Amino acid sequence: MDKRIISNNLLVDDEIEATLRPQRFFEYIGQENVKEMIQIAVEAAKKRSESLDHVLLYGPPGLGKTTLAQVIANELGVNMKVVSGPTIERTGDLAAILTSLEPGDVLFIDEIHRMPKIVEEILYSSMEDFVIDIVVGKDNGARSIRVDLPPFTLIGATTRFGDLTGPLRDRFGIVHKLEFYTDEELQIICTRTASIYQYQAESLAIEELAKRSRGTPRIVNRLFRRVRDFADILGDGTITLEITRIALNKLKIDESGLDSKDREYLNVIIDKYRGGPVGLETIATSISEDPLTLEDVYEPYLIQKGYISRTPRGRIVTELAYKHLKKTYQGMLF
Ligand code: ADE
Repeated sequence: MDKRIISNNLLVDDEIEATLRPQRFFEYIGQENVKEMIQIAVEAAKKRSESLDHVLLYGPPGLGKTTLAQVIANELGVNMKVVSGPTIERTGDLAAILTSLEPGDVLFIDEIHRMPKIVEEILYSSMEDFVIDIVVGKDNGARSIRVDLPPFTLIGATTRFGDLTGPLRDRFGIVHKLEFYTDEELQIICTRTASIYQYQAESLAIEELAKRSRGTPRIVNRLFRRVRDFADILGDGTITLEITRIALNKLKIDESGLDSKDREYLNVIIDKYRGGPVGLETIATSISEDPLTLEDVYEPYLIQKGYISRTPRGRIVTELAYKHLKKTYQGMLF
């Protein structure tokens, strides 16, 4: 097998990945409230021939913030430029991006809370008045020139709403939180994925996948691909309930969708800290994980499932978590 064939396969996978993403509102499953509000704003902007007000989407990773931004751009009939907050290091980088936009275009900034402060400050006048002040020259010869920008829509995405500065937050006219998906919504997404990959899947297998995907489309699509591997190797390629269970068990994903890291997190609080309260940093050190990753990636689902709660004195594990892990609390078996 040579490299060319491997890279061709990757290309095909990338193409399929791109087609997995819904292009229009009617294909985008779930987030009904958010979708309805944005749909109205998009229609109104189009009717007035104006650029759409700036949009901020926040919530845990994998819930479709980038996908929704692309759908918005498609519905507006404009191009979308994608950048990530931490990669815009200098004001000049942002100025170059902004001046290259066409009227009405969407600029999508992922992880917008991680943009450097000086870059963020340039964004204020860009968002409010569609102008930027660029400093040219040095020392005594330095002066500021004002550059007009085309009207554009900034769509910002963040997992940490609280980390955005007040001035930046205030400049978004449309602000929405994306929520975890229901099992039924994930089933629809997974059925669509199976049909794009042209795999037969039992409805019970789809239900199982949805149930174990922590309310997250990115996870249901990822797990679908892993189960598909097992179906190709163990069977005739049909995604059956039995193969799904084998694959997910081997991946150490339990019936509630918790993975080894989630269980490690809960177990350490129970075994080492008697169920808490214990600080995030302490938990992170105990399980060799980055505290920000725990907070952004793991905790939101554990909180929403009611396995942990955050208190001013730290995290505590709930009775539900003890039951789930079949653990005893002070000698009591829940
Ligand atoms: N893929 C990822 N997110 C999706 C969504 N919300 N609807 C349909 N397909 C998706």
